[in-house]
Amino acid sequence: MWKPAERIKFFPARASVPSRQQALASRLFSPVQLGPLALRHRTWVPAMVPWRSNEDGEVTKDVIDWYARFARGQPGAIVIEATGIRDVPSGPLLRIGDDRYIDGLRRLTRAVQEASGGRTRLLIQIIDFLRIRRRPDPQVFFQRHLVLTAALLERAGLKDETDAQAREKLFALGPEGWRQLLDARDWEALQYGAREQVNDLHMPHIQELPRELPGLFARASVRAREAGFDGVELHYAHAYTMASFLSATNRRGDGYGGSREQRIRLPLEVYAAVRDAVGADYAVGCRFLADECITGGSTLEDATWYGMQFARAGMDFLSTSRGGKFDDAKQPGIGQAAYPYTGRSGYECMPQYLSDAQGPFGRNREATAHIRQAIRQAGLNTPVVCTGGIHNFEMAESMLAAGQCDVVGTARQSLADPDWALKTWLGQGDQVRLCEYTNYCEGLDQKHKQVTCQLWDRMEMDEPGLRLSHDGKRRLVAPAWRPPTDIIASAD
Ligand SMILES: Cc1cc2nc3c(=O)[nH]c(=O)nc-3n(C[C@H](O)[C@H](O)[C@H](O)COP(=O)(O)O)c2cc1C
Ligand code: SF4
Repeated sequence: MWKPAERIKFFPARASVPSRQQALASRLFSPVQLGPLALRHRTWVPAMVPWRSNEDGEVTKDVIDWYARFARGQPGAIVIEATGIRDVPSGPLLRIGDDRYIDGLRRLTRAVQEASGGRTRLLIQIIDFLRIRRRPDPQVFFQRHLVLTAALLERAGLKDETDAQAREKLFALGPEGWRQLLDARDWEALQYGAREQVNDLHMPHIQELPRELPGLFARASVRAREAGFDGVELHYAHAYTMASFLSATNRRGDGYGGSREQRIRLPLEVYAAVRDAVGADYAVGCRFLADECITGGSTLEDATWYGMQFARAGMDFLSTSRGGKFDDAKQPGIGQAAYPYTGRSGYECMPQYLSDAQGPFGRNREATAHIRQAIRQAGLNTPVVCTGGIHNFEMAESMLAAGQCDVVGTARQSLADPDWALKTWLGQGDQVRLCEYTNYCEGLDQKHKQVTCQLWDRMEMDEPGLRLSHDGKRRLVAPAWRPPTDIIASAD
């Protein structure tokens, strides 16, 4: 992963730990309403893909165990990982693209309800993404993938050659020749792997996205409701289709790109279709970027305007993230796919303990506060969830007190200690295992390996019936927290 040149080390702090009484009186542990959905507390576990599904995108026992473990920590809400709305092979990414997924997803919602004692609300993040190929071996690229256009053959002086001869001669030119002759997209495909973009209007399925996506998102949302989820989060963030429509890099000339008004058109149409399908009494919100953090990308000013439009349209909550784009991702090795969290924008999304003077903690709070303030000034009350480097009560409470957000998202802190909110609420905050922001978990995610946390994945390995990762070395869920019984009694 990209790291700031300064490489200043930051260490998380527990800061002030509230007593039971202080926790009970706090903002963090007070209720909040997301449209029709009441959360008991303002603690929120944002979407995190843990690679626990199977090649069919189904809910497996490991998926259930993973979320039940978070639920035992009783956060106000958990958002299930990015889940594909299409019924197409997507590796071990969870899917909701067909009715046959409903039963498995229902088992998941029931497990979370049971494990949290009915205290945690469960949402699901639904996603569409475009195809990205692995970085090709140059020889294979020239033999098979490269489309020999008349313009390319003309540039290369090869228009009288047979297809096979032209390919062979192009390959023989080597990197310097390739760079001079290939157009920008082919050069990128060779260097990074071919990646479809919303600007590719010459591809019929990309042209059709505005017609196709509202229905796909709407049908997925209806399935989510049937499966017992309390709401859906439309994934409008990071490197995926809907974020690409919002991006200032979207230059589509079909009324869905270019100006801000046209870039937000499809995200609003998707929301309208979802709302129509699920009704007014079901929580629907989105996750979007407070800043794309790439050259030429959408800025905080765009995001503030987007936030106001989403709120005006009637979304029940808005959750912010930042960065996480393909545009500045590192070049993958041959045979590997690019990963959108390896460049500077990736760092902004999941900042690590080696940082710049600003540090990795609360990096998204000012931007989120700006968006929230604009929404409030427009007379709208839509709750805003802020995430990014938040790991202790004091920080969470101060953000709520300052009106920077209404709900506090903690992704890696919840991964490091799924009980952190429960411990804090029970006045046991000194027992919280603090995330160290090493990004060991993110490294596993990058390789599509089952995500675990280095702070607990080798602990209590003699536990009976323990389920281990495919490499047999790591436990898949954090060990149980066993609080004293008098403390548990006070929780009821
Ligand atoms: C392993 C892992 C998987 C993630 N998967 C998703 C995802 O599916 N959807 C999403 O919006 N964000 C995803 N994220 C980003 C987190 O939700 C969060 O925005 C980010 O980690 C920063 O918050 P934190 O500092 O509290 O960890 C993921 C993060 C991690 C570490
Ligand atoms: S591996 Fe654990 S400690 Fe390291 S960043 Fe991930 S959650 Fe935090």
